[in-house]
Amino acid sequence: MTINILDSQKSILNKFISDIRDSEIQKDSLRFRRNIERIGEILAFEISKTLSFENKTITTPLGEKEIALYKNDVVVCSILRAGLPLHNGLLNYFDDAGSAFISAYRKHINKTEFEIVVEYFASPSLEGKTLILADPMLATGQSIVSVYQALLKHGTPKEIHLACVLGAQDGVDFVKENFPKETKLWIATVDKNLNEKGYIVPGLGDAGDLAYGEKL
Ligand code: URA
Repeated sequence: MTINILDSQKSILNKFISDIRDSEIQKDSLRFRRNIERIGEILAFEISKTLSFENKTITTPLGEKEIALYKNDVVVCSILRAGLPLHNGLLNYFDDAGSAFISAYRKHINKTEFEIVVEYFASPSLEGKTLILADPMLATGQSIVSVYQALLKHGTPKEIHLACVLGAQDGVDFVKENFPKETKLWIATVDKNLNEKGYIVPGLGDAGDLAYGEKL
């Protein structure tokens, strides 16, 4: 797997990461969602550099211009519900992409152990597609791996990009072991630790709750 950690280079991305982590600023859910979306836009831009391009001739009001445009058939698949603002950010750039949605949640067996339950699924065919699998929080990595296994019933993608905002090193290691080796991981930033409840530390808290409010 190719692992691309975007904050290894200093850029304006750090401002968006700082805002989603900041316990005061993140209380503004509109701003939190928009910052996740902005990070999705940056991830999309970085992913786009690795796609396949072909020259097309475009007619302007004053003449013609040859320009290299990507030719991949892209599908963005997001895990409900925290993935929604990230999905929007990716679609802002890949506006001609197909969309797939899948639900995955942690079903707690006890206070510290859980299993991942995958239920709702709506997707176009993934056969031969460039799949961008979006999951903002790569904590243990179990959700994104379970989702990938469920997705394979809908076709074999030509290539796979994992688009994430914040990860724990354990999650990065887990996806590295469980995805095909050609997979590319794009992640804005990585923290060292997970706590006993599977939350990333220092992380940012619960991304779904911050974006859409607390659930029961
Ligand atoms: N999901 C979250 O929203 N936060 C974490 O820290 C881990 C998983």
